[in-house]
Amino acid sequence: PRTAAVVPAAGRGVRLGPGAPKALRQLNGTPMLVHAVRAMARARAVSLVVVVAPPDGIAETRALLDEHPPPASVELVVVPGGDTRQESVRRGLDALPEDIGIVLVHDAARPLVPVEVVDSVIAAVRDGAPAVVPALPVTDTVKQVAPGGVRGEPEPVTATPDRSLLRAVQTPQGFDRRALAAAHRRIPATGEGATDDAGMVERTGVQVVLVPGHEEAFKVTRPLDIVLAEAVLARRRL
Ligand code: CTP
Ligand code: MG
Repeated sequence: PRTAAVVPAAGRGVRLGPGAPKALRQLNGTPMLVHAVRAMARARAVSLVVVVAPPDGIAETRALLDEHPPPASVELVVVPGGDTRQESVRRGLDALPEDIGIVLVHDAARPLVPVEVVDSVIAAVRDGAPAVVPALPVTDTVKQVAPGGVRGEPEPVTATPDRSLLRAVQTPQGFDRRALAAAHRRIPATGEGATDDAGMVERTGVQVVLVPGHEEAFKVTRPLDIVLAEAVLARRRL
């Protein structure tokens, strides 16, 4: 079956601070989204990339991608996103042609994921896993608190999960196309929506498996992450 990558890029980037939508901001002179699309196109199996763009930035997104096109072997489609990440991913899935059997969902905000991670996710889906997620051990100890806390106020701790049993997940997450589409049909986009596609598939009773992620697949979320991403690119001489 053909493999496609859906790249949700429709977020505003509120935590990054004021400016253009996050995916359109530059890292060492090239938009984050362009880096992310290249990262998907580098995987030999990927023959289609569906970019889910900010609804008010479709023309700008198309123009940026025309300026920095992926190799001719990779087809590129741009569709408008929604109010939540989950809604944006659903719109990307709706744009997939019939012959796509494996779907990757990759955050535009993870522009530096190495191709080895992409390839290993695809390989695990090809080997029969319906939902595959790259993940790393958690380095910070994590505390659980009760809901309803007030930001800035001291919060009572309710539990400390065993760190050795926790993993931080990344993207691209890879799926049997039908398993992901079924999860998106069955689980309503309520509130903020799901933060993780595998989490939705998990809720439909499908087994999710983890493969090793990579430090450089970190998500650009806050201003410090831009500093780190540009340093990684400089080290790669890009
Ligand atoms: N995303 C999307 N549509 C939305 C919200 C998010 O396509 N309505 C995408 C983002 O563009 C990003 C990915 O989902 O590539 C991960 O989301 P996140 O890192 O939270 O990005 P933003 O939502 O843009 O950032 P913030 O939460 O700080 O506003
Ligand atoms: Mg967000």
